[in-house]
Amino acid sequence: MRIGILGTGTVARTLGDALGGAGHDVVLGSRTAGEDKITFAEAVAHGELLVNATAGAGSVDAIGASARADREGKVLLDVSNPLDFPSGELRLTVSNDDSLGEVIQRAFPELRVVKSLNTVTASVMVDPGSVPGDHVLFLAGADPTAKAVVRDLLGELGWRDVQLIDLGGIAGARGMEMYLPLWLTLMQTLGTPVFNVTVERGRTPEAGQ
Ligand SMILES: NC(=O)c1ccc[n+]([C@@H]2O[C@H](COP(=O)([O-])OP(=O)(O)OC[C@H]3O[C@@H](n4cnc5c(N)ncnc54)[C@H](OP(=O)(O)O)[C@@H]3O)[C@@H](O)[C@H]2O)c1
Repeated sequence: MRIGILGTGTVARTLGDALGGAGHDVVLGSRTAGEDKITFAEAVAHGELLVNATAGAGSVDAIGASARADREGKVLLDVSNPLDFPSGELRLTVSNDDSLGEVIQRAFPELRVVKSLNTVTASVMVDPGSVPGDHVLFLAGADPTAKAVVRDLLGELGWRDVQLIDLGGIAGARGMEMYLPLWLTLMQTLGTPVFNVTVERGRTPEAGQ
């Protein structure tokens, strides 16, 4: 499949290498074209499937740099997080009753946005086996067909079906993004970004308990 990744940072390069290695025709887009770089608009035009791996503060501008006709009907896997880096504080630029995933979906209704992968570090995205157990990854998005496409792609990266939890519509991105402050604190506490969380179902209490 032709995949257009918006971004040239750690996530874009890590996903690009893995998906290219899996046989996909992958390009990485940037704000400026260069010798071995193309623009966001060219990456969007190239991709049958798009991946947003840009800094959250620039994501809408990055996607919006493309022609609407080149976005029409495409699945966009949104890996970004709305971290407010310039503030120097551990805070999000959008939260509570909204999320960056929703902001992107509202700004570009012609795209089918699926939020996923934003809750793990780049190396874990493409090597889930580096963390033991059935640790989980979440998906959120309105379009079931788009989520099926993303599930297949995640499978190619090594994620097993049992590890994938579908949170429903794109509003599920709120919790996925608001987990980031905890993720960052965990990283500092554990001294490594290579970790993930598991979710275990408990027994339902009897009535009256
Ligand atoms: N690093 C991780 O392990 C990790 C894990 C999960 C989620 N994420 C999220 O994934 C995204 C990418 O993270 P990253 O660490 O690979 O790189 P990053 O440094 O957060 O983002 C790099 C990309 O964002 C673009 N960008 C930055 N500011 C921009 C602006 N104002 N307008 C348009 N584009 C802009 C850059 O464009 P140029 O190419 O032109 O420089 C570059 O391609 C982020 O949203 C991050 O929060 C990261």
